[in-house]
Amino acid sequence: MSVKRKMHLVAYLKTGPTASYASAWRHPSAPLHDIWDAERYENLARLLEEARFDAGFFADGLGLPDIYKNSFADYVGRGGQLSLIDPMTVLPLMARVTRHLGLGNTISTTFNQPYQIARSLGSLDLLSRGRAAWNVVTSATDYEARNCGMDGVPPKDDRYDRADDVLEACFALWDCWDPDALVLDRKSGVFADASKIRYANHVGPYVRTRGPMSIPRSPQGRPLILQAGSSPRGRACAARWADMIFCTTATKADGIAFRSDMHARLDAIGRSPVECAILPTLSVVIGETESIAKEKAEYLDSLIDPELVMASSSTLLGVDLSRIETAEEAEVAAGNQGIAGSRDRMSQVAKAQGISFAQAVRKPRGLLAGTPAMIADVMEDWFTNGACDGFVLPPTVFPGTYEEFGRMVTPELQRRGLLRREYAGRTLRENLANPG
Ligand SMILES: Cc1cc2nc3c(=O)[nH]c(=O)nc-3n(C[C@H](O)[C@H](O)[C@H](O)COP(=O)(O)O)c2cc1C
Repeated sequence: MSVKRKMHLVAYLKTGPTASYASAWRHPSAPLHDIWDAERYENLARLLEEARFDAGFFADGLGLPDIYKNSFADYVGRGGQLSLIDPMTVLPLMARVTRHLGLGNTISTTFNQPYQIARSLGSLDLLSRGRAAWNVVTSATDYEARNCGMDGVPPKDDRYDRADDVLEACFALWDCWDPDALVLDRKSGVFADASKIRYANHVGPYVRTRGPMSIPRSPQGRPLILQAGSSPRGRACAARWADMIFCTTATKADGIAFRSDMHARLDAIGRSPVECAILPTLSVVIGETESIAKEKAEYLDSLIDPELVMASSSTLLGVDLSRIETAEEAEVAAGNQGIAGSRDRMSQVAKAQGISFAQAVRKPRGLLAGTPAMIADVMEDWFTNGACDGFVLPPTVFPGTYEEFGRMVTPELQRRGLLRREYAGRTLRENLANPG
């Protein structure tokens, strides 16, 4: 009997109550009293594991966006996506209450040294016993660069060249210790076998690091690599390094085009497509009936603050949209800033809906609202027809989306043989290779 291909699910998370759906923090069932409580993150981790997600990862950035109208007032004042605390402080809490869920953090290769990155993620992999993932970003905004000793972000190609260098350095650091180098033998007094530890000696065009690390080899050897670059150079970087690629393609046809482009890139460098899962984002609103789902989606939309959507879109595109009308203008005005994938998504939305780019940037994210079966139908269609290998799911209401998904959509996907019933492996990498 042939084993049916299974999909991968990853949760898109933020520390704090604002995630990618604009104004959803105002929803009465999204708690605000517990934002500094460990239980908030422990509960989240349990929900994701019960829903049989591969992983949850925290998106992150290093500052308060002040691109829209040259001010941070609208973005922070109205509740734009923000990390209210460092994600690395909550991931171990999530590791503590789960056994299988992958745990990802976003760390920029533009602003950090490889030693610090390798140490941080190596520690998480050890503490979670092999469940760490790294969302590798090159960062795309000047306000972040100005917090890190630069006047602005370097040109995109330079950022990705540095990303390659930083990744090479991190891989060398993660290889400093052999798996059995830590001996811990009280009797003989041998703490570690120094002959099984070596220097990294990485000397690259952007970064240098000697090693050895003080962190022993972790269960996965290195964390899973997640990447979401959509520009040609970003895609080349993802093809070389990523175990999972995130994208924000707006339609199934755009998803098929993105995935086949990535497969061609993987093939060109001798990697197999099965080594790399491609996951578009999908925002769902789940109802017991279609009309309940529609009503929930309408209510969510009624909370939306249009100025927040503008401030958020401005941040994604790296341009002040109070002064920009077309995609071409946006691309020019962005300079080194902006996320190519977001600009593509907004152009795809404009095309698919027959509206202008200026109208598309004023729209909140598209929502898929329906019954569990309707949502599973769309997921199955994209998954079986070459548009993806699974999905990245942001919360539309936190944490209710994940509770409802696990209770209603997960069983439907399992019934169709599209999602694991149990985790097959112990580490995140094992679960990626064998989704059950
Ligand atoms: C699902 C998803 C999540 C992302 N999360 C982050 C993030 O947390 N921090 C960040 O700086 N960029 C994030 N990005 C942006 C990309 O990783 C990348 O840095 C950006 O797309 C710029 O490269 P590009 O122009 O090649 O797309 C995300 C993109 C996607 C599609």
